[in-house]
Amino acid sequence: MLGQIIILLLVIFSNSIHAISKGDLLVVSVATNETDGYQRFIRSLNIYGYKYEIYGLGQQWKGGNMKHSAGGGQKINLLRENLVRYKDDKTKIILFSDSYDVIFTQVPEFILDKFQAFKPARIVFGAEDFCWPDKDLQYAYPLVESNEKRFLNSGGFIGYASDIYEMISSKEKIADDDDDQLFYTKIFLDEFSRTKWSIVLDKRADIFMNLNGAIDEIQLPVLNDENYVHNSWTDSVPTVIHGNGPAKRGLNYLSNYIARVWSPTKGCLQCKENLIDLNQITDHQQWPMVYIAIFIEYPTPFLREYFDKILNLTYPKNRLGVFIHNQVEYHKELTEKYMTKFKENDYQFVKYFHHDDDITEGEARQQAITECQENKCDYLFVIDSIVQLDNSDTLMKLISLNRSVISPMLLRPEKTWSNFWGDYTDEGFYKRSSDYLDIINNSKTGIFNVPHIAHCYLINGSLLKSFTPQYIDMRTDPDLKFCQSLRDDGHFIYLTNEIKYGHLIDPDNFNTSLIIPELYEVFSNLHDWKARYIHPDYYKALEPNTTLQEPCTDVFWFPMVTEAFTRDLVELMEKFNGWSGSAHNDHRLSGGYENVPTDDIHMTQVDFNEHWLFILREFVQPIQQKLYTGYYSDPPKAALNFVVRYMPEYQYKLRPHHDASTYTINLALNDVGKDYEGGGCRFLRYNCSMASTIRGWALIHPGRLTHLHEGLPVIKGKRYIMVSFIDP
Ligand SMILES: *[C@@H]1O[C@H](CO)[C@@H](O)[C@H](O)[C@H]1NC(C)=O
Ligand SMILES: *[C@@H]1O[C@H](CO)[C@@H](O)[C@H](O)[C@H]1NC(C)=O
Ligand SMILES: *[C@@H]1O[C@H](CO)[C@@H](O)[C@H](O)[C@H]1NC(C)=O
Ligand SMILES: *[C@@H]1O[C@H](CO)[C@@H](O)[C@H](O)[C@H]1NC(C)=O
Ligand SMILES: *[C@@H]1O[C@H](CO)[C@@H](O)[C@H](O)[C@H]1NC(C)=O
Ligand SMILES: *[C@@H]1O[C@H](CO)[C@@H](O)[C@H](O)[C@H]1NC(C)=O
Ligand SMILES: *[C@@H]1O[C@H](CO)[C@@H](O)[C@H](O)[C@H]1NC(C)=O
Ligand SMILES: *[C@@H]1O[C@H](CO)[C@@H](O)[C@H](O)[C@H]1NC(C)=O
Repeated sequence: MLGQIIILLLVIFSNSIHAISKGDLLVVSVATNETDGYQRFIRSLNIYGYKYEIYGLGQQWKGGNMKHSAGGGQKINLLRENLVRYKDDKTKIILFSDSYDVIFTQVPEFILDKFQAFKPARIVFGAEDFCWPDKDLQYAYPLVESNEKRFLNSGGFIGYASDIYEMISSKEKIADDDDDQLFYTKIFLDEFSRTKWSIVLDKRADIFMNLNGAIDEIQLPVLNDENYVHNSWTDSVPTVIHGNGPAKRGLNYLSNYIARVWSPTKGCLQCKENLIDLNQITDHQQWPMVYIAIFIEYPTPFLREYFDKILNLTYPKNRLGVFIHNQVEYHKELTEKYMTKFKENDYQFVKYFHHDDDITEGEARQQAITECQENKCDYLFVIDSIVQLDNSDTLMKLISLNRSVISPMLLRPEKTWSNFWGDYTDEGFYKRSSDYLDIINNSKTGIFNVPHIAHCYLINGSLLKSFTPQYIDMRTDPDLKFCQSLRDDGHFIYLTNEIKYGHLIDPDNFNTSLIIPELYEVFSNLHDWKARYIHPDYYKALEPNTTLQEPCTDVFWFPMVTEAFTRDLVELMEKFNGWSGSAHNDHRLSGGYENVPTDDIHMTQVDFNEHWLFILREFVQPIQQKLYTGYYSDPPKAALNFVVRYMPEYQYKLRPHHDASTYTINLALNDVGKDYEGGGCRFLRYNCSMASTIRGWALIHPGRLTHLHEGLPVIKGKRYIMVSFIDP
């Protein structure tokens, strides 16, 4: 590390004594399309102050499909055509580089100095470990040291303008789809031409780093608050970083750090570049038209909240349209209810494909793309049913970031499961990147070029004008296919975690056969369960400076659950309808006999006991510890947890009794004065009655000995309470 710094400093100092100046270096490249990779390349040249010329923009590419086969002769023809004007220039130094998969990482002086060190060589080619495209030529290459690169790579070379022009014109015209690397290889392997222009290979990657097969050689140390590429194998600091062949994935990873995209102290630098500010468009009718594509492909808990959050997105509603694919019959009713809401809210259109339409997930996703293309929508915003967009500014923020494809980072709460991959294997499977954990725990925040995203992303309509992402492939799932099709066509996929956008639902254990399935989601989706079911003021009650009300001696009450919980629990019990009928003989109890029976249903009967014990531990125990200090049992145990129903015609009151518990909670499940009249609880020793209970609030009081109590008569309607005898 220190060695590197000294070398860098030496290079910078020694530069001033050379005759060659920065102005003599011209970077030239050939590019027909301004792809994402091209923009990245140009950005890096600008950042470090290079002079450059790009040839071929807007022309048709006839050089073959370079991903899968040889080709690229067109590059040479374009160079011949354009470099002719420098053919007699003996001082200008030309650096040719590919563009789509190249990033520059140092200032021009740095390269010039390295080039000088190659003297008497006059042309230097990049080198790599593979002999391509003609493997048989490998034996013709001169031998190299074990840590040196033996074979020519034509993605980058540097030399005097006159020499380079002479070299590329030395053979008769080559076809656009002939192989350019083979062309240069033959020149290099021919001793006569090699000597003529003093051609050497950059065996130690002093200038050109071809990443294919060499990604493990790369380290990213820091100097002057900037990550730079260090090749630990050749111990060099290369400047022109080339993701040749399959190494594009490695280059994309590096691109999140090098070329002043990232600052180790300041974080994301590119996050502030090229932002779109929609608020500058004061007329909302002029805002981009966004198609929201909703995919409900499997039963998903908390779908109501999912829809509410989409409806809540900050955006002019008449600039939004909704495309829905719902594959799940269980969600039909809710989905249709929300379709009505979208329509009422002035959305420009609502288009619905339901499970009877018999289209697959892949087809539906493809259809959403097609609709956007046909109607020239400005953006397509895909949101799967497991996505909870907690941040209503998500859409605006994603648009502002100005990327062709960008996804907000979403995690399962408290888990490392997310909606993106940092890396993938050669076979296309998931692989954890070395920065994955830093990104998901937000110790690195910014915009990251990643190979795979899913579930929620914004696609810029301008991308869809020239490219159709693919979802359908028998061999793989739609998300994988989608990302693969983007990558294969050279489009970058970005992830942002600058702010918190939302989170993911875990749908795996959602059982729609249950009467109220969401109630049971306390283990799989605690975060959303709490948001739906735990009283918003509960957390305040926990704060040390909040004093809980004590309506009777040592009897406290606190807001515990939401109205939704009380409604759902009562509905569960009524639909289950296994009321005991308040008989003394009770087969549900181990003794078979209940001294003070109520008309009730036990949590065990509805398979909710485990869930309830968890709720006691998670939400009741902390309150107990706050109120009755010095008593601690972990976990709180409770064999009897049940919902009681009081009504005049049946059981309407309960005679005085002690609970078989250390402490008891008694949770009101409906409204006195509205759902029933009378009722309540009276503590005899203190002659204190609690008649005006509040739905969702829990009473907590000591059990046996001091708190003899009775259930006061209900004179009208039905009263429901949930009771737990804790630590019997
Ligand atoms: C360049 O873009 C055009 C359309 O914009 C596309 O048809 C063509 O395949 C692209 N060429 C390359 C080499 O990516
Ligand atoms: C958005 O990005 C495109 C392409 O990268 C760029 O041409 C444009 O200037 C950017 N928009 C703004 C407002 O910076
Ligand atoms: C809707 O957004 C506002 C902020 O814009 C937020 O306070 C509110 O909680 C959101 N509602 C839902 C249902 O997400
Ligand atoms: C995205 O689309 C807008 C127009 O809707 C355009 O101005 C912008 O440059 C596009 N950005 C990218 C990265 O394609
Ligand atoms: C994030 O994860 C990384 C890697 O496990 C760890 O080194 C770092 O301390 C974590 N940071 C935070 C803020 O949790
Ligand atoms: C789903 O719930 C039903 C009804 O309680 C039950 O019979 C079934 O075993 C549950 N399925 C799973 C996979 O837990
Ligand atoms: C109570 O304490 C919490 C922190 O525990 C604090 O945020 C809050 O402002 C305090 N409330 C009052 C009324 O002091
Ligand atoms: C109990 O309280 C009620 C009113 O709250 C009162 O009328 C009654 O006299 C009290 N009984 C005793 C024994 O103190």
